[in-house]
Amino acid sequence: MREENPLKEKPKLPGLPRSLPEGRSIDPFIVMDVMAEANARQANGEDIIHMEVGQPATPAPRAARERARNALETERLGYTEALGMPALRELIASYVKERYGASVGPERVVVTAGSSAGFVLAFLAILASGDSLGLPSPGYPCYRQILKALGLSPRLIETSAEGRWMPSAGDVDRLAAEDAAGILLASPNNPTGTMVVGDRLAEIAAACRRKGLWLISDEIYHGLEYDAPAETALAHSDEVIVVNSFSKYFSMTGWRIGWLVVPEALVRPIERLAQNLYISPPTISQIAALGAFDGIDELEAIKGNYARNRAMLLEELPRAGLSDILPADGAFYLYADVSRFTDDSEAFAKAMLRDVGVAVTPGIDFDPDRGQSYVRLCYSGPEASMREAAVRIGAWLKKQ
Ligand SMILES: Cc1ncc(COP(=O)(O)O)c(C=O)c1O
Repeated sequence: MREENPLKEKPKLPGLPRSLPEGRSIDPFIVMDVMAEANARQANGEDIIHMEVGQPATPAPRAARERARNALETERLGYTEALGMPALRELIASYVKERYGASVGPERVVVTAGSSAGFVLAFLAILASGDSLGLPSPGYPCYRQILKALGLSPRLIETSAEGRWMPSAGDVDRLAAEDAAGILLASPNNPTGTMVVGDRLAEIAAACRRKGLWLISDEIYHGLEYDAPAETALAHSDEVIVVNSFSKYFSMTGWRIGWLVVPEALVRPIERLAQNLYISPPTISQIAALGAFDGIDELEAIKGNYARNRAMLLEELPRAGLSDILPADGAFYLYADVSRFTDDSEAFAKAMLRDVGVAVTPGIDFDPDRGQSYVRLCYSGPEASMREAAVRIGAWLKKQ
């Protein structure tokens, strides 16, 4: 599973006129590699349980699909405005108001091709070549890979289970001292599912303001909380960049549609980037997203399934031998310490997939330093499969 990046190892690839730029070579997104292998095994007739990729097992809400079906028949589906359809920007602004009570004008909403495109736009708009950005670790791997691909520098901030894997205002002060341009945090976090609690987010936002650092808040797992609701960074400042998406709570990963909320002064710079890089977000997906907000009842029922899976696995996995897991506050992940069994989480995950057909993601994807001791399990699948996975994992761990 772990391959050295071919671009890094062999800069002069046969069949190419020139060597490739070394600094631009990035690591694979390992979860996608695991998924490809799990899919290949499934296509070969193996009985695979998917707990590797972080995506809902359900389709988009019915109203979203109906809108898209209707638009296919009746609309031209040409380009839209680079910042997204005005009606969708309005709806997103109303959703933000309704959900958090934060007043954000639609002019500050930027519709993007998934939050993935949102990161590229935000990074390019605010960071100069060579700038660094603080990233709590463990964290979502693509942050650091996107930064590297753009000639920017990820600066990893080691967090701990005791601190619920979250950064602190002290980390912001340290980043400022090292001349970093900002910090990006996700709460609920991927891979740990943990959230910033108490005054931590307010303190981080205040420290960023004091030190003149950017705060980018990835709120893609908002809506998927099991106890207290997640707090938006918009509650603490209008200068923050909030990244969000229809992928997770709204169950629309493959539609590739998300949004940013940005300070007013950033709208035009981002618009210029979006025009040139992407022209506009996918039109059919924007139309579908207009309907997504009518599917809240369906989405809450789906979240109910996640909550049941989470409660069941927090009981069953320790019995199966994975006892070191924090009861994550949100998202649909559990991050399990497997150091009792291995110091090579990639080999461990690979063997589990081969032996019992349960696909999980090695922690090394999320934490290059300590990730060999962890795996991430995604519990967004059907309850019966999740239960079966715990049984298979338990039987397998007994033999390790
Ligand atoms: C924390 C986090 N941010 C962003 C993304 C990207 O999501 P998308 O591009 O589908 O919006 C993911 C996907 O897993 C994620 O886990």
